[in-house]
Amino acid sequence: MKLLLKAVTIASAIVATQALAETWTLAPESSHLAYGTIKKDTVGEVNSFTGLSGHVTPDGQVEIQIDLSSVETNIDIRNERMIEHVFRKAGTASLKAKFDMAEVSSLSVGETALVDADAMLSLAGAEVAFDAEMFVARLSDTSVTVSTNDMVFISTEDAAVNTGVDKLMELANLPSITRTVPVTARLIFNMDGEQAAVTSAAPIAVAAVAGDTKAGKKVFRKCSACHKLAENRHSVGPSLHGIFGATAGQAAGFRYSSPLKESGIVWNAETLTTFLSDPRGTIPGNRMQFPGLRNEKDVSNLIAYLQAETPG
Ligand code: HEC
Repeated sequence: MKLLLKAVTIASAIVATQALAETWTLAPESSHLAYGTIKKDTVGEVNSFTGLSGHVTPDGQVEIQIDLSSVETNIDIRNERMIEHVFRKAGTASLKAKFDMAEVSSLSVGETALVDADAMLSLAGAEVAFDAEMFVARLSDTSVTVSTNDMVFISTEDAAVNTGVDKLMELANLPSITRTVPVTARLIFNMDGEQAAVTSAAPIAVAAVAGDTKAGKKVFRKCSACHKLAENRHSVGPSLHGIFGATAGQAAGFRYSSPLKESGIVWNAETLTTFLSDPRGTIPGNRMQFPGLRNEKDVSNLIAYLQAETPG
């Protein structure tokens, strides 16, 4: 009996190990990497990177590429300053970590574990080593999620970005910005290749289905400096109350530019998608000082939010 049990244990361990002896690829749309900053001692903000890619090799080597130009601080000019002064136009940063795959491979679907990772962040020539305790959950046969169990703190001095942070303070006229940055991550990996096709579990997406209103509300923060949703509440831009089905440039009491007023566009999900992805290209000469949303998901989530908040 004991022997049989042992045989079963070994057999299932082999099956589990085989399942993980694969390359896993990061699912960027369901992953999230963010860091926090505190300015003037009191104002906390979360910044994140939308451009992530990466994989885990069968022996547990994790390599993640972070597109630094995808930094999202919710203010465009600040994104540009971060890219230029803090990241020094370095393009990508890489995060390498080593995992004990044996621990991960013993997980069956629905099980979780805490796993220690030795990680190394390379950013614009600087290398920062750190340990992180990661929370790993097996979501399905073909997907795992790995997230930070606690915050990981990275010092701006170690990352050699202090000069850039000084520059940000000077440009934004701030008395202080924190020099230690808490980082959190949620990374979802899907198994590559044939085995994944055989088991064919649907790839897990975290609330990234078309039109996520909650995510859209966050995207709207980029608009809310200039647009309100309440009727007739015009500010820098016109109120977006009842925008669906409305003809462009017609809200009473707002002075539009001629190109917008004469565009003849009727606003619906499709025309808004085109316009918000490229406002200047869609209506040349319009006066909306906004470069457009780069991420398609952001656009569809935003539209879902607007539809829920102000149906036409
Ligand atoms: C910096 C201010 C600013 C930001 C940020 C901004 N807009 Fe605008 N928006 C304007 C202005 C100004 C106009 C009117 C432009 C004109 O008359 O040429 C406008 C026009 C529009 C219109 C046309 C309205 C109508 O009545 O036809 C829509 C729709 C719109 N914006 C949506 C958005 C959304 C959604 C966002 C966020 C993703 C956004 N805007 C971000 C200033 C802004």
